[in-house]
Amino acid sequence: MTQQTQTVLIGVTGCIAAYKSCEIVRGLQKAGLRVKVVMTPHATEFVGPTTFRGLTREPVAVDLFDNPSAPIHHVSLAQEADLFLIAPCTANVLAKVAHGLADDLLTTTALACTAPLMIAPAMNVNMYEAPATQQNMRILRERGVRFVDAEAGYLACGDVGKGRLADPEVIVAAVLKELGRARDLEGRRIMVTAGPTQEPLDPVRYLSNCSSGKMGYAVAERALARGAKVSLVTGPVALEPPAGADVVRVQTACQMLDAARAAFADADAGVFTAAVADMRPAAVAERKLKKGGGDVLDRIELVENPDVLATLASERKPGQVVVGFAAETDDVIANAQAKLARKGADLIVANRVGDGLVFGQDQNQAHLVFADHVEDLPLQSKADLADAILDQVSALLG
Ligand code: CTP
Repeated sequence: MTQQTQTVLIGVTGCIAAYKSCEIVRGLQKAGLRVKVVMTPHATEFVGPTTFRGLTREPVAVDLFDNPSAPIHHVSLAQEADLFLIAPCTANVLAKVAHGLADDLLTTTALACTAPLMIAPAMNVNMYEAPATQQNMRILRERGVRFVDAEAGYLACGDVGKGRLADPEVIVAAVLKELGRARDLEGRRIMVTAGPTQEPLDPVRYLSNCSSGKMGYAVAERALARGAKVSLVTGPVALEPPAGADVVRVQTACQMLDAARAAFADADAGVFTAAVADMRPAAVAERKLKKGGGDVLDRIELVENPDVLATLASERKPGQVVVGFAAETDDVIANAQAKLARKGADLIVANRVGDGLVFGQDQNQAHLVFADHVEDLPLQSKADLADAILDQVSALLG
């Protein structure tokens, strides 16, 4: 899948860690991003604009009035950015951005920018811990600004404590994640079950449910985007599978079990989103059943289907991660906790269904239910929920 080139604008402020911005530029470029740099005049005391111009092959903006051909440079820079990263960000610039002050090109651009803003602070420990700085960070967090927290350690001033710029690799990873470009699942294999199953009764009838498959397809798509190899074992749905997935189409629960078992054998993780039919007709008639003709249309005998998730969780090899879903109409958390234990999953993604909730919808509010704790997630798109689930898979895989 080809991704559009995205632009990251890096704001460099006057701090000894400014030289680390060069590594951040490089890391983002390696990930295929276009990078532009805006500096405060103080920052140029630490690293010259020529260095960034050489690295980015783009003009480097410093002064509000330094480009006669673009008289409103702060606006054009702000519009070009898919993300504005200020790294390193001094206490002074942090305070200015928190309070909407705009007295140089960098802070003016920050105010004019509607793209997500990410800040990686770097400063002396006492400045970092000062109530003013802490409050400014709170203000910005509440406004939706993402932070890459400073690290604790030996600081340039000789003090030891929190305030050191986060590792450039960590900052690059945070940017890629924010832009939906994280590659943390590179080299991993993930098996996803998706959609409903259909359990035939006769050649034209089946038992099924109204699962759209959207959740599973979103997980498959995001896992691919994050670098995983994906096997998508899917029941019949009206969706186009994501490019690059190894797709196995099945109809029944028994077929899904066989296909999922084969795909899970060499997978690192299985994400079981399928709404597998719990029961199937005990017998499939060879010809269409007739009403009123003594056929069994008035009493269909059912037998239980295998539980794909529970079966594969019980057969799993050490280290394989198993994520299940729980669609509940009531007692969501308690039922999900019981399912987690009964089925032997590492994580159950629980949500409320019924009254038009979830099935076929594009948004979902879920709870991540682990053996020892529960995390409540906000109402979000299925793509964002897929990413939140894959964050957990990534963490569980270690
Ligand atoms: N699941 C499965 N095979 C089944 C039934 C369910 O793999 N035969 C998986 C689903 O993909 C999901 C989880 O088990 O990840 C829970 O599904 P759910 O329908 O909520 O649970 P059930 O086991 O059907 O329990 P109940 O209907 O009693 O709530």
